[in-house]
Amino acid sequence: MLSSQDIVQIRSQISQWKRQGETVAFVPTMGNLHLGHITLVKEAKKRADHVVVSIFVNPMQFGENEDLDAYPRTLEADKAALIDAGAELLFIPTPETIYPKGMDKQTYVEVPNISDELCGASRPGHFRGVATIVCKLFNIVQPDIALFGKKDFQQLMVIRTMVVDLSLPIEVIGVETIREPSGLAMSSRNGYLSSEEKQQAATLKQTMDAMELQIQQGLALPEVLAKAEQQLTNAGFKIDYLAVRNATDLYEVTPEDTKLVILAAAFMGKTRLIDNQEFSR
Ligand code: PAF
Repeated sequence: MLSSQDIVQIRSQISQWKRQGETVAFVPTMGNLHLGHITLVKEAKKRADHVVVSIFVNPMQFGENEDLDAYPRTLEADKAALIDAGAELLFIPTPETIYPKGMDKQTYVEVPNISDELCGASRPGHFRGVATIVCKLFNIVQPDIALFGKKDFQQLMVIRTMVVDLSLPIEVIGVETIREPSGLAMSSRNGYLSSEEKQQAATLKQTMDAMELQIQQGLALPEVLAKAEQQLTNAGFKIDYLAVRNATDLYEVTPEDTKLVILAAAFMGKTRLIDNQEFSR
């Protein structure tokens, strides 16, 4: 696997593939790779001739009091896992390469409305940071397809919207969330949890399962939400938000909507976990 910090080198390898008429799949990450990321890479390999991965802990998507400095960096283990999974090219830029003038002077991409609620309301500027880096990486790699985990459901929607709004010729593919046997969604942030917290955190998936069932049985949303909030609080979660939305546009649910998604963000101790569940009624 070729790994480089350099945009020119990355572009030159990719243009060589493209000149030969070969397709490129791209998996952007922030490193500290787990089975969720590896599944994205394996899925990418099935769908294209070459797989490019990036590892960049993007400072623009972290708020002032968030975990940018503490964010786990495990480059050597990540490289070994990527080689095993079949990635061929790894882009590991420095912040100076990505934001040479500094973040304040950087042109940014803002996807309106959808970026302002749920995670966007709790983390102002977060989705601007995500859209900006993903747009830059898309322009550097120019992939045919790009793969993202559905665990970050709102992020996936922000990126899909950006791709449509900016007419980017890239197919965005959402890949199912990978879970621990307990049901806990895999996340780099799970590493912050103590073993007791990890056990308690599995309640999030159980709560979403119960919500899905209750909604399908016709229980009114406010009641479903109240029960779920109680269940999460009893398990030791401090809820940031818990919502049920239309799964295609994230708008508030109307009686006609059949495809729904539960979206949750909650703190277990100091760790903010997010998860979601799509279902039909
Ligand atoms: O999901 C992530 O790891 C990041 O938000 C992404 C898409 C790599 C952008 O920095």
